[in-house]
Amino acid sequence: MERIELLIPGSKIEARVKELGREISSDYRGLKPILVSILKGSFLFLADLTRAIDVPHEIDFLSVSSYGSSTEFSGVVRLLKDLGTNIGDRDVLVVEDIVDTGLTWRYIRNNLLTRGPTSLRIVTLLDKRERRVVDVPVDYVGFVIPDRFVVGYGLDYQERYRNLPYIGALDDSSLQGSGVSYQGSGKENDFRN
Ligand code: IMP
Ligand code: MG
Repeated sequence: MERIELLIPGSKIEARVKELGREISSDYRGLKPILVSILKGSFLFLADLTRAIDVPHEIDFLSVSSYGSSTEFSGVVRLLKDLGTNIGDRDVLVVEDIVDTGLTWRYIRNNLLTRGPTSLRIVTLLDKRERRVVDVPVDYVGFVIPDRFVVGYGLDYQERYRNLPYIGALDDSSLQGSGVSYQGSGKENDFRN
């Protein structure tokens, strides 16, 4: 069993999602955006965010898989389920759980841009920006987090922990043998109070 350290409590997530909802509502006033949730990790974030946005909007889902071991990403992305909506001439807001290396967002962004949206932005709950390997624009960020492997509120480790109502960091020793080295001390950002 892995040890999990509390990083962001549910109450902080709830408050921040409401703020993001207000900011997005104000930026999209008068428009009818489509929120594109990237499965599976963003399902809880989408569920809370859609209720925090008070401009009319649609939702749709895109499912991608990132190849690699459970915690280290190879950079190869495969489309598992495509949108049901034509996003040509629409304002599209991608909803992600986390932007880490940026490779997945770059792939999704390039793919969606070929379909001719009026605008294309991303809102990500978490931004692990010190791990970024590609320079890709990120529009709305819930929390910038340190270089730790995190779970909960939709994010998984080997398909577990998505149901945790908070964001937790897996203990480094839990990740040993899984081909990962997560060196961040976690002290750079403390969201607990
Ligand atoms: P990327 O490195 O930005 O392409 O992110 C690839 C994917 O890896 C994300 O969409 C997440 O599904 C997953 N991922 C990255 N960091 C974490 C983490 O700390 N916990 C759980 N999943 C993660
Ligand atoms: Mg993901």
